Amino acid sequence: MTDRTRFPAEFLWGAATSAYQIEGSPLADGAGVSNWHRFSHRPGTVAHGDTGDLACDHYRRWRDDLQWMRRLGLSAYRFSIAWHRLFPDGRSGPNPKGLDFYQRLVDALNQAGIEPFITLHHWDMPAALEDLGGWAHRDCPQRFADYAHCLFRALAGRVRLFATLNEPWVIVHEGYLQGGHPPGLRSPAKARLAAHHLLLGHGLAVAAFRADGQGRIGLVVNLEPKHPASDRPEDQAAASRLDAYMNRQFLDPLWFGAYPDELAEIFGPDQVEFPAADWRLIRQPVDFLGINYYSRAVVRADPAHPPFYAQALPPQGECTAMGWEVYPAGLETCLLWVKDRYPGVPLYVTENGAAFDDPPPSAGRVADPRRTDYFRTHLRALHRAMAQGAPVQGYFAWSLLDNFEWTYGYAKRFGLIHVDFATQTRTLKDSGRFYQQVIESQGAILDDPPGGG
Ligand code: FCB
Repeated sequence: MTDRTRFPAEFLWGAATSAYQIEGSPLADGAGVSNWHRFSHRPGTVAHGDTGDLACDHYRRWRDDLQWMRRLGLSAYRFSIAWHRLFPDGRSGPNPKGLDFYQRLVDALNQAGIEPFITLHHWDMPAALEDLGGWAHRDCPQRFADYAHCLFRALAGRVRLFATLNEPWVIVHEGYLQGGHPPGLRSPAKARLAAHHLLLGHGLAVAAFRADGQGRIGLVVNLEPKHPASDRPEDQAAASRLDAYMNRQFLDPLWFGAYPDELAEIFGPDQVEFPAADWRLIRQPVDFLGINYYSRAVVRADPAHPPFYAQALPPQGECTAMGWEVYPAGLETCLLWVKDRYPGVPLYVTENGAAFDDPPPSAGRVADPRRTDYFRTHLRALHRAMAQGAPVQGYFAWSLLDNFEWTYGYAKRFGLIHVDFATQTRTLKDSGRFYQQVIESQGAILDDPPGGG
């Protein structure tokens, strides 16, 4: 049979995490204060007053967590570096103890045959740089590139896959336009600057990598199909504004050296002109793209909501605990769309997963059938995209562990592994067991009817 779900032998099967969400020990061994540390300690920012002070205590328990990765059978692990552990004040570094932590982790992963995939900036950064103005400040890209460069040298030959930024859209939207993440700004002008400077930081880091790095470097973006609620021209235009803002804002610059036209419509005609040298840096080829996929949006025009004049409708279908519609076909759509619009590079699904209100562990198990279904249906969609030519080389489940879900704190659980945050006990969820079988069977188990896995 030709239509069976089998993935290539060299396909990377991974799970993903990020530093602030799992590490804890935020100030240990000479680390500087990070923006997220400071933000989460401000009353009213995070649900239940949760902070990343302990999180999964991974900074101290990473060896155990590595055993869990082995048990799952992972061939890759995507994690991020806490910038402020290496450059405590954003300028001077590297702090040797911070670097040591990641070098030990990388060496142990390699020894275990698990490919390290490093994200350089997964939202946490030295608070001192945020004081300067964060990504809205023109110096931030160079500070980022200096940190990146130092890491490329320190890990040369030991890490093959680097992503510069994780989801720049979220950094801009939540941090600079909506105010929900640090630095907590609500400024369209700063949001535009931050977006551009993130891209510039990416470009400078890629240039440093070409000069002094080994392996492959890329960018991780989060994509979401924006479906118009009707065929009324207003709804179509509203959907395409949100599509430009979220899906094309960071990729058009890399491929075409320009922002989508809709951005001028959204942010006004008085756009800052950026120097040609910026565009040369931004437009450098990348070696891969990472796609994070969770859901889609159905969009209608809404005159009451500037600057987008668009609103996503409340989801109709099944939703996760985040209120995100479960929409596996969107993963296939996104991958095929990227293959056609931004051709020429391999792709990784760098995040995909779901939060559900899991029951507590009982007799060493966590029954989470809805998460298993989520993985099954999304992995099938991924396979369909690959069968149609999407050049996907790996998949990373979000997340290895239940963790600090940003402003939702510990209330939203995405893990393959359940974490009891009071005792730090880990329990493999049924979905983790399912993922283990997917890996073991190279996808064959995805052909079984639901309930069989
Ligand atoms: C993504 C983030 C990741 C996690 C998941 C649920 O936007 O990259 O850190 O919060 O969503």
